[in-house]
Amino acid sequence: MNKTGLLSAALLTAAFAMPAAAQLSVEDQIEARKAAYQFMSWNMGKIKAQAVDGGVEFNADQMKAAANAIAAVANSGMGALFSPDSTMDKADDTRLKPEFFQQPEKAREVGMNFGREANKLQEVAASGDRAALARQFSAVGETCKACHDSFRAD
Ligand code: HEC
Repeated sequence: MNKTGLLSAALLTAAFAMPAAAQLSVEDQIEARKAAYQFMSWNMGKIKAQAVDGGVEFNADQMKAAANAIAAVANSGMGALFSPDSTMDKADDTRLKPEFFQQPEKAREVGMNFGREANKLQEVAASGDRAALARQFSAVGETCKACHDSFRAD
């Protein structure tokens, strides 16, 4: 094989190897999605404390950072952390209901609603408007709950 041939063979191998390398085991999917939800929950807690309850002094920069973190997770392509083999009837240490794959329209809808509201949270946090942030916190929280009600076991 000449040099160009070798190079394109190497590139092809790399191109095909990528998705396989990015594919996580079921155990890793479960671990990563639970960590992602915990991380969002931690950041939601900061917004609740400062913008909703007021127990902690409002700090617009911290609110921006928290909302950015939530939006980043929401936009990270979390769908890759959900496979049909990772539901609670087939895997350990998870509360993902099999309905997530039996009702794909519903799953897509709750996922898209969450993404939309998380992006809005980022916009509102950037504005520094505390009352608006408190309202948007509730809107995001409703989309978290909508998914839990349908697809997370108690
Ligand atoms: C698309 C559906 C969906 C959305 C949206 C969603 N969750 Fe969840 N959440 C789940 C599922 C499913 C689980 C269970 C994951 C598992 O056990 O594998 C979960 C688990 C959790 C957990 C427990 C994690 C653990 O360690 O077991 C927390 C906390 C959580 N979610 C918070 C949130 C918050 C806060 C939001 C919104 C900012 C949110 N979730 C949005 C579906 C969702």
